[in-house]
Amino acid sequence: MKSHFQGKSFLKESDFNQTELETLIDLAAHFKYLKKQNIPHPYLQGKNIALLFEKTSTRTRSSFTIAANDLGAHAEFLGQHDIQFGKKESLEDTAKVFGRLYDAIEYRGFSQNTVEKLAEFSGVPVWNGLTDDWHPTQMLADFLTIKEHFGNFKGLTLAYLGDGRNNVANSLLVTGAILGVNINIVSPTDLQPTNDIQSIANDRALKSGAKLLITDNIQKGVEGVDVLYTDVWASMGEESSFEERIKLLLPYQINQQIVDMTKNNNTIVLHDLPAFHDLNTTMSQEIYNQFGITEMEITDEVFNANYAHQFDQAENRLHTIKAVMAATLGHLFIL
Ligand code: CP
Ligand code: NVA
Repeated sequence: MKSHFQGKSFLKESDFNQTELETLIDLAAHFKYLKKQNIPHPYLQGKNIALLFEKTSTRTRSSFTIAANDLGAHAEFLGQHDIQFGKKESLEDTAKVFGRLYDAIEYRGFSQNTVEKLAEFSGVPVWNGLTDDWHPTQMLADFLTIKEHFGNFKGLTLAYLGDGRNNVANSLLVTGAILGVNINIVSPTDLQPTNDIQSIANDRALKSGAKLLITDNIQKGVEGVDVLYTDVWASMGEESSFEERIKLLLPYQINQQIVDMTKNNNTIVLHDLPAFHDLNTTMSQEIYNQFGITEMEITDEVFNANYAHQFDQAENRLHTIKAVMAATLGHLFIL
């Protein structure tokens, strides 16, 4: 029997239905258990995997590498400046070569079109490690973290505050809509999701019953929510927008006052990371020198509070990425 996922790519959330995403999240929980118990799970023995990164990464790169090792595969890191791709060799030719050499490809970069074309021309499973539009492996980790904390998704509401039109916001809106988790995108009108993204999400919410709210009204957006979520105010490649973003987004910073505005004592805080919560990075120092602020999307106080679970999310990147790799390449007998 062929597994339902075998040979498939993982390019964006909307390619999957509720049962499929739930299956991957539950498979990840199983792999987490196996890892903690030191039970070997070498489902990808002998496989070779290309890790193609046009943008930098800590968690995604490490998770794909460790997951490959744990599954018995070999992962080869190919950074932006290491290969001919884009400079001397076209996307199509590179994809065809990779399809002959590798069993699967991870891609992180700018254009969603690139990851889609890699899948089309390589003929092997391609996994999206983040594009300008979507961050689908992040979603599996985030919703696994939410499920671990609350037990299930029923009746939960997540409010995302900040840049409401970046990859993480898009992915949260659509994934919540698929899984039946209510999503509030709380952002200034200039930074709200595009009509295209809203229409994909609305369509999926009709099936799952998720309630979606796009608002610039913070009080309305955060009251009663179970999860507060934020991300950087300027994504990779948009660093020149910090001045404008700081002006627009300061009121949407997740600080203790916003946490209190939920009026819910059980609210948790999530962040996909990396986060600007102190001055311990060169970039946050530059921002401080230019604009005089010591924290951006999340205050250090909230980041270090016991209700903040960003490091659980970071750990869950490994287990969820492993689930995607094994399900699409490991001949697992799962639905
Ligand atoms: N959250 C996330 O994707 O982290 P990296 O950019 O470090 O991979
Ligand atoms: N929105 C962020 C996510 C980083 C994991 C970015 O694209 O830079």
